[in-house]
Amino acid sequence: MKNRLQTLKNEILEKINEIKSEADLKEIELKYFSRKGEINQIMHSLKDLDLELRKEFGVLANQTKKELEEAFTKAKNSILNNNDGEILDVTLPGVNMKRGHLHPITIIQKEVEDLFSSLGFSIISGPELESDYFNFTALNIPPFHPARDMQDTFYVTSAKDDNQEELDLVMRTHTSPVQIRAMRKFGAPLKAIIPGRCFRNEATDARHEHTFYQFEGLMVGEDINFANLKSLLEIVGKKIFGPNTKLRMRPKFYPFVEPGNNGEYTCFLCSGKGCKVCKQTGWLEIVGAGLIHPNVLRAGGIDPEKYSGLAFGFGLTRLAMLKYGVNDVRLFNSGDLKFLQQF
Ligand code: DAH
Repeated sequence: MKNRLQTLKNEILEKINEIKSEADLKEIELKYFSRKGEINQIMHSLKDLDLELRKEFGVLANQTKKELEEAFTKAKNSILNNNDGEILDVTLPGVNMKRGHLHPITIIQKEVEDLFSSLGFSIISGPELESDYFNFTALNIPPFHPARDMQDTFYVTSAKDDNQEELDLVMRTHTSPVQIRAMRKFGAPLKAIIPGRCFRNEATDARHEHTFYQFEGLMVGEDINFANLKSLLEIVGKKIFGPNTKLRMRPKFYPFVEPGNNGEYTCFLCSGKGCKVCKQTGWLEIVGAGLIHPNVLRAGGIDPEKYSGLAFGFGLTRLAMLKYGVNDVRLFNSGDLKFLQQF
């Protein structure tokens, strides 16, 4: 038995040394290493030996089998890879995989979401194709009111509501309609921001785009007042533009808030001294805001006698333009890799 094993071992090693082609490999594999090959036959015949002998030869046979298999694998790799048994040369430089990354507006959106979640706000979303009612009427902009002229959009008529009445659908002009949806769904008290894509029917140029991003914020509860709005906008400004940022609020008409105002922050590029970006004023107009109009609270199913609220709307696209010094808004939707790869 021992001799038979030794002879077989020598024979196989010799054959392995002579392997020159894949055909040789196949032949040897079949003859010696396959299930019915000679090595397995020897292993099989061990069971006929006495216990003592079986123990002794078992060890030896297993060891020999392992040695032969290793030698064969090495020869196989050498033939298949033609590299002397080395399967992989880890010192070779790899192929550089190109990775994509987030769009600049998404980067800013995530920063803003982190900031507001840390202040206890939920992040919610609403439909981009919105009913005329939510986009305008419920926000205190009734049909035929001149305030409708402030935001022209793309009208898509024809859907039917639950009562089978024709619904006028519009591409939403702002994220404000989601205020109504949020109030109806969650009631008061409520703290949420709504980032999202908006649309306007405008001639495009370096400062105007038909598709852009905003984020809306609202806070509804008992005794929400103007001081809450001011301090919140101050915190947000400092977080986005740096700790020395100052806020000033100037009255402005927005139909869905009363009083309504424009929040301006000291220009983060010149620290308020005056530069090209802030048109030498030292201030950047960033946010529309105010205390939610009682009609809007009512449209949201909230009793204005019991609750009050604040709301604000930032231009996410505008924030991205300022932060990255982008001077043409159209670049964001252009899909131009030369532009996108800079972020
Ligand atoms: N929806 C306004 C716009 O798109 C921005 C805005 C102004 C949102 C005042 C508000 C607000 O919530 O209170 O121009």
